[in-house]
Amino acid sequence: MRTYLVTGGAGFIGSNYIHYMFRKYGGSIRIINVDALTYAGNLENLKDVEKQDNYTFIRADIRDREAIEQIFADNDIDRVVHFAAESHVDRSIRNPEIFVETNVLGTLVMLNAAKKAWELPDGTYKEDKRFLYVSTDEVYGSLEEGDTYFYETTPFAPHSPYSASKASGDMLTKAYWDTYRFPINITSCSNNYGPYQFPEKLIPLIINNALQGKKLPVYGDGKNVRDWLYVDDHAKAIDMVQEKGRLGERYNIGGHNEKQNIEIINIILETLQEMLSEDDPRKALVSKELITYVEDRKGHDRRYAIAPDKIKEEIGWYPETMFKEGIRLTIQWFFEHEDWMKNVTSGGYQKYYEEMYQTK
Ligand code: NAD
Ligand code: TYD
Repeated sequence: MRTYLVTGGAGFIGSNYIHYMFRKYGGSIRIINVDALTYAGNLENLKDVEKQDNYTFIRADIRDREAIEQIFADNDIDRVVHFAAESHVDRSIRNPEIFVETNVLGTLVMLNAAKKAWELPDGTYKEDKRFLYVSTDEVYGSLEEGDTYFYETTPFAPHSPYSASKASGDMLTKAYWDTYRFPINITSCSNNYGPYQFPEKLIPLIINNALQGKKLPVYGDGKNVRDWLYVDDHAKAIDMVQEKGRLGERYNIGGHNEKQNIEIINIILETLQEMLSEDDPRKALVSKELITYVEDRKGHDRRYAIAPDKIKEEIGWYPETMFKEGIRLTIQWFFEHEDWMKNVTSGGYQKYYEEMYQTK
């Protein structure tokens, strides 16, 4: 049975990836989820799989070399999918240090531990082992007027402490291929949205605030562009890259779905209006009057847009979920998981962890 080590599996994309993998492979794979449970990690995201025999959660920090090496010593890991990171740009502007510690040094710990576990005496590696670094399109910097898309060959030009730290982890991963022929892949994905996204990010923040009649903060002129991808499509792409990608290669993943932030906010408000029933008291709260222009983010990247040509041509992946459909699925999920939102915004999920794991 193939064993996956997923870091950051209690976060937004990691938990969606774990669900995707169990839906696809059922009992034929084993997943070990290693997560430090920072503010962004939430075991409630995995409630429905936590009792499965082929799923194990280990609370560990990727910066903790001994703990990570022990996990590799105790388990015959075949695939590493490395999501764990500090992921929010605004937080990185306020506190860059933790971004370097987790995203750069933590990645180095993961690379070294996997290399140590997989390396054979002749310097080659055990058969069929793969390490995937989940990178971001933000490593390429910002597209300006007249620019086309980010390609795999676009030079790195990160601007925020977040993207600079992700670029460092990304380049270290590539260096392990170039130097040691350590079996890696890198995926650089555009902005994700979907279930379980922490409400500090644009889409869940707008949904949550709109339903409570709270202001909807728009940075700057609201015309910054992001290329939004439904999170299941990202999970599928990661799996396909690990199955079919050429070792040592980078693959860009994007939704072909560029939208200005203000367009996203308007679509959310219109979709909420369509989906809320007439007798729902929240319907009267959802209004364009809530849109509030606020001070711009420092160093705010203007536009991100991915050309996913390479992954399509080499691997056959393409984005399947249209934004219209994906945003409805996301809003429906938030409607059905009001408690989740209450818990993550109140810190209740930490209590969940204590109750769940201290009694074991
Ligand atoms: P997230 O913030 O929702 O989740 C991050 C997870 O990592 C959390 O569960 C957290 O507890 C865990 N974590 C943080 N520090 C840790 C540490 N030191 N040790 C162990 N675990 C730790 O993030 P996300 O949005 O799910 O992003 C996951 C990955 O995908 C990140 O590497 C991010 O850079 C990348 N990415 C995100 C997007 C996006 O739109 N969200 C787009 C492209 C790439
Ligand atoms: P975000 O979800 O933080 O993702 P990223 O910065 O990684 O792209 O932000 C998406 C876009 O939305 C970005 O241009 C910043 C903008 N934004 C707002 O206008 N208001 C907000 O409250 C937030 C969180 C983001």
